[in-house]
Amino acid sequence: MSIGPSALFPAVAPSGARIGEVPSLVDCPLADLPKERLAGSGPNPIEGACPVSEGDDRRTRRELVLARQAASRYGTSMTALKVLETDLRRLEEVGRRRVLTTRRGQDFASNDYLGLAGSDRLRQAISDALDRGVPIGSGGSRLLRGNAEEHEQLEEEAARFFGAQSALFTGAGYGANLLIFATLPQRGDLVVHDELVHASAHEGMRLGRAERTAFAHNDIGAAADAVASWRRRGGRGTPWIAVESLYSMDGDRAPLADLTALADREAAMLVIDEAHATGVFGPEGRGLAAGLEGRDNVVTLRTCGKALGCEGALILGPAIVRDFLINRGRGFIFSTAPSPLIAAAVGQALRILREEPERRERLSTLVRHAGRELGHLGIAATGSSIQPVLIGDDRRTMEVASALQAAGFDVRGIRPPTVPAGTSRLRLSITLNVDQAAISALATALRKLL
Ligand SMILES: Cc1ncc(COP(=O)(O)O)c(C=O)c1O
Repeated sequence: MSIGPSALFPAVAPSGARIGEVPSLVDCPLADLPKERLAGSGPNPIEGACPVSEGDDRRTRRELVLARQAASRYGTSMTALKVLETDLRRLEEVGRRRVLTTRRGQDFASNDYLGLAGSDRLRQAISDALDRGVPIGSGGSRLLRGNAEEHEQLEEEAARFFGAQSALFTGAGYGANLLIFATLPQRGDLVVHDELVHASAHEGMRLGRAERTAFAHNDIGAAADAVASWRRRGGRGTPWIAVESLYSMDGDRAPLADLTALADREAAMLVIDEAHATGVFGPEGRGLAAGLEGRDNVVTLRTCGKALGCEGALILGPAIVRDFLINRGRGFIFSTAPSPLIAAAVGQALRILREEPERRERLSTLVRHAGRELGHLGIAATGSSIQPVLIGDDRRTMEVASALQAAGFDVRGIRPPTVPAGTSRLRLSITLNVDQAAISALATALRKLL
């Protein structure tokens, strides 16, 4: 049954609202509607079952459309700013309005796992590059004058270091995921993705031409079923399996061996986002997918703003993939190249990974220590630098985060749509920017609040 505006909005204004006044969403009966009636149901078969983040976005947009309809029913129209304000108010009402705060207190929130962002060696790399006359800005697209020697050197070094056929350096990981999923899977292909893959992968898929479907988190059987069902429906193209090797909000790992076997069996491509594993896991910090580089059905994404302490991203894989992205990737073609200074710094970060294994060892000691401390509070250890503390309620999560911040710990609360509804959490990040004593102090503070 379709829900028309007349069914939603009575002819008389809700109590308190005057005719001609734009009612807020809370004034509208809309707020009482079951969520599933507000969610869009697009032609794409997966949309109904789409993960929280997208469903939530869609709901917000749908509510705005309905609010506009309500406004016109009351004889007024919503100005652009009113529309935006209405949405912000709605976020406020459900405890999800975000504000920016600068860094303060001990770092339990960054992804600077190895403490490289402020390291002397990275500072020195930038300073040396400046002395050599490397410009700050690239000045253009890589396909025009923006392509600098620093970009090419980094790509050669990265391909060698990770053991891949080729590497492509791009702006932030968000844009790199967009580039991958909007460009590589073709019409007639299927993207089969873990339900918890990053928002940027979703955005890429949304822009792309392939059909897409989600499978339950880390459920290989469900991924295989999704491919089989697509084939039964006549799917003839290539399946692209999209996962993260270490999940950004849960800190758990993907079953990469099983996923590779599935990809081999199904003649599929496997796209592995190594954002949170690069630098931290694997030989020389080459990530959890280190052993899979060089295969012709694997593409990996290594963001450079996390353990590498810089910014940007490296896409690694078969040379044909790099060539295709350069020729067909709109986000690559029509965008200014990242700073060559940063390319020089990323190259140095890769050398640090190789030459300073003690950073990974120290991190692993801290992670074990955090696991023990949190274990005393009944919180299961993930064994990675990402340690979620599930709270559930959005507001309560932010209250606990604020209390910890007031006590000097930079801990951030994570709410939907970043994580599924009902799973708001503190995302504790363990980095070399803190020591064991700080972790113990945080655990003590947490004990009082939970
Ligand atoms: C798994 C994952 N992929 C991609 C990204 C985006 O990378 P970047 O922060 O470099 O834009 C993030 C960022 O948090 C991430 O967690």
